[in-house]
Amino acid sequence: MPIADKRARERIEELRRLINYHNYRYHVLDAQIISDYEYDQLLRELQQLENKYPEMISPDSPTQRVGGEPVERFVRVAHPAPILSLGNAFNAGEVNAWFDRICKLNPRVKDAKFVVEPKLDGLTVVLQYENGLFTLGATRGDGEFGEDITANLRTIRALPLRIPVNENGIDVLGRIVIRGEAIIFRDDFVAMNDSLEAQGKRPYVNPRNAASGALRQLDPKLTASRPISLICYAIISADGGVPRKQWDALHYLKKLGFPTAKDISLCQDVRQAISAAEAMVPKRDTLPYEVDGMVIKLNDLNLADELGVAGKDPRGAIALKFPAQVVTTVLEDIGINVGRTGILTPYAILQPVEVAGVTVRKATLHNFDYIADKDIRIGDRVMVKRAGDVIPYVIGPVMEARSGMEQLFRVPDRCPSCGEALERIPSEVGIYCVNSACPSQLIRNLEHFASRTAMDIEGLGIKVAEMMVSGDLIHDVADLYYLCIEDLLKLEGFAEKRASNLIQAIEDSKNQPLARLINALGIRGVGEAVAADLAHHYGDLDTLQIARIGELEQIEGIGPNIATTIVDWFAQPRNQYALNKLYKAGVWPAETVSSIKEANRPLEGMTFVISGTLPGLSRDEAKEWIENHGGKVTGSVSRRTTYLLFGESPGSKLQKARDYGVPLIDLDTLKNLASGEDK
Ligand code: IVH
Repeated sequence: MPIADKRARERIEELRRLINYHNYRYHVLDAQIISDYEYDQLLRELQQLENKYPEMISPDSPTQRVGGEPVERFVRVAHPAPILSLGNAFNAGEVNAWFDRICKLNPRVKDAKFVVEPKLDGLTVVLQYENGLFTLGATRGDGEFGEDITANLRTIRALPLRIPVNENGIDVLGRIVIRGEAIIFRDDFVAMNDSLEAQGKRPYVNPRNAASGALRQLDPKLTASRPISLICYAIISADGGVPRKQWDALHYLKKLGFPTAKDISLCQDVRQAISAAEAMVPKRDTLPYEVDGMVIKLNDLNLADELGVAGKDPRGAIALKFPAQVVTTVLEDIGINVGRTGILTPYAILQPVEVAGVTVRKATLHNFDYIADKDIRIGDRVMVKRAGDVIPYVIGPVMEARSGMEQLFRVPDRCPSCGEALERIPSEVGIYCVNSACPSQLIRNLEHFASRTAMDIEGLGIKVAEMMVSGDLIHDVADLYYLCIEDLLKLEGFAEKRASNLIQAIEDSKNQPLARLINALGIRGVGEAVAADLAHHYGDLDTLQIARIGELEQIEGIGPNIATTIVDWFAQPRNQYALNKLYKAGVWPAETVSSIKEANRPLEGMTFVISGTLPGLSRDEAKEWIENHGGKVTGSVSRRTTYLLFGESPGSKLQKARDYGVPLIDLDTLKNLASGEDK
C-alpha cells in the first residue's frame, strides 16, 4: 500500500474542506453554487484517494456516509438531559390562556419576546459532539433513554460530522448536545416513492414514516439510500458557553453548520407571535417539508428554564397546531384502477368530506396488502389524511366505530376490466393483469404512446383512446397506423377536419426518434431516461429486441429487474405481433449515431429544467439538444436539478429554482458549458 505523500495529503484535506463547504452551502445556507454533478466529482476524487491511501480515512471524512455494516440491535443510551415534549394549543385563545398562565408564574413574561418556528413532522434526534466530532446520535425514546442510531445518522448528508464546518473562529470544546428533527423533503419523498414503485417496491405512506422507518432499522446502507435530511432547533446542553436567547441559538447552530428552519420569526409580543404562526396556515402546503403546526417559544431561554416543566411539557413553549388535515368519513366502496403496466391499485370511494378547505371523494389505499394490514373494511368509518399536494390517503379504520355490518374486501382474482386471471409477481407488492389486450391497459397504453414525451400525437388523449378501444378500432398500439379517416368519423365528436388532423398527427409521429418509440412502448420501468439510454446503446429495435439480460444490466441505470422486464416484454407473442405491425407501417426509427453522441457527452449526469421561451429554439428542440449532449431534462425543479435553463418570461419554476439554490443559466451559458468553455 503506498503511503500518502505531502501532495496527496494536502489534496485530501482540500477536498474535504471543499466538500464540507459545499455541503454547508447546500444544506444550511440553501445557496448551492456548484451542481450536484460537480459535487459528486469532488466526492469521487476523495474516495479514490482514500482507496489508494486507506491510512488517511478518518471518521469525519465525507466519504464515511455510505453506511457501514448492519448492527444486530440498537443500544439504549441515556440522554444527558430530559428530552421534553411540547404542549399543544389549537387556536389563538388557547395560546393566550397559556400566556396568561405563565405571566402569573413570572411577571417578566409580560414583556417577553417570542420566536416562532415550524413544527416539523419527522423523527426527533439527539446529536452529541465531543470536541467538535459527531460521536453519538439517538432517538428520543421515552425522553430519558433513547436508541443509539449513530451509524444510521452518519449517512445523512445534512448532518455535520465535525463542527464548526468552517474555520469561523468558533471553538466547540467539550461536549455539546443538539436537538433536531430528521425529515424528508416533500420533493425528495415524491421522487423516492416514484423510484420505489418503478422497482416494484412498496412506496411509503408519508415522509414522516419513511424517515422514521429508515432511521430505526438496523442497516445503515438502507438509511444511506433514502433522502433523509435534518433541521435543528435546540441546544440541549453544552460544556462551553452558548447563546441564551432562542433566536441567537438558532443562528449559532447555523454558524456551526447545522441546518435550521427558514420560516422563523422573532416577535415582540405574544399577539405578534400568534399572527406569525397563523400566517403560516395558508402557506403550509407551499413549505418544502410537512409541518403540523408552529412552535411559539420564549426567546429568553433563562426565563424559560425558570418557568420549568409541567409534566413533560416545558412551560416556556407551546405548539399552535394547524387545523386538522385528518378527518373521518365513511368508506362507501373500494374501486380498482388498472394502470398502464397492468398493475391494479385499489382506491377508496368516500362519503364526500372536507379536509382543510378541499372536498375529498376519493383517496388512495396504496395496495392490497395495505388494506389487509390495516384491516380496512367496506362500510368502515376511516381516517383520511390530506398532506399538501400529496394525494389524500386512508390512514385506517376507526375501530371503535365498527357496527359489525362492515364487509371484508376480497382481493379480486380476475381483472375488473377484462376478466382475465391476475398475477402476483414474487418479490413485488403489486397484483398485475398480464393481458396486454386488457381494455383498461390498452386505453392507458394508447394514451401513454401518444403522450407528449412519447410519440407526441396531438389530439389523442385519454377520451379519444377510450372511444377507440370501446369502438373496437384498436387492439394494440400498432393499429393506430392502420386507421383511416372513415374509422375516426364513427367516433363521437369527430367530423372530417378533426379526423384528418388526427390521421396526419399519427402519420407525422412515424418520424419520432427511437428513444421516444421505446418510451412509448410502455415497458414497465422503462421511462424517458432509460429509453434514451437504450436507444443510444442499441441504435435500433432489431438489436434491442434480441438483447440479453446480462448485456442490458451492463448499461448504467438498468438493474436486473428492469433488464428482465425488457427481455420478457419482447418475448411476448402479442408484443411481437404489434412490433411486426409497427415495422410494416414504417414505424421503425433508427438512432442516427452522431459524432457528438459517441465521443462527447459533456452534459452527462446533469439534470436541467427549462422555463420560459428560449431564443430561436422550441422547448422540445432544446430538450433534444441537451439529451444529445448527454444531459437530462425534467419537468419540475427539485433539489436534484443541476441547472435551470431560463428564457424569455420564465414562470414559477424560476422562483422555485431560486428557493432551492439551483443555479440559473441562459442558452448561451448552456452552450458554453457543453463546449467546455465554462469550466
Ligand atoms: S421544541 C423544549 N421546536 O415536536 C421544547 N420541537 O410535539 C421542546 N418538534 O417531539 C421541543 N419541530 O421534537 C421544538 N421547531 C421545533 C420542533 C419541535 C418539531 C417536535 C419535537 C417534539 C414534538 C412535540
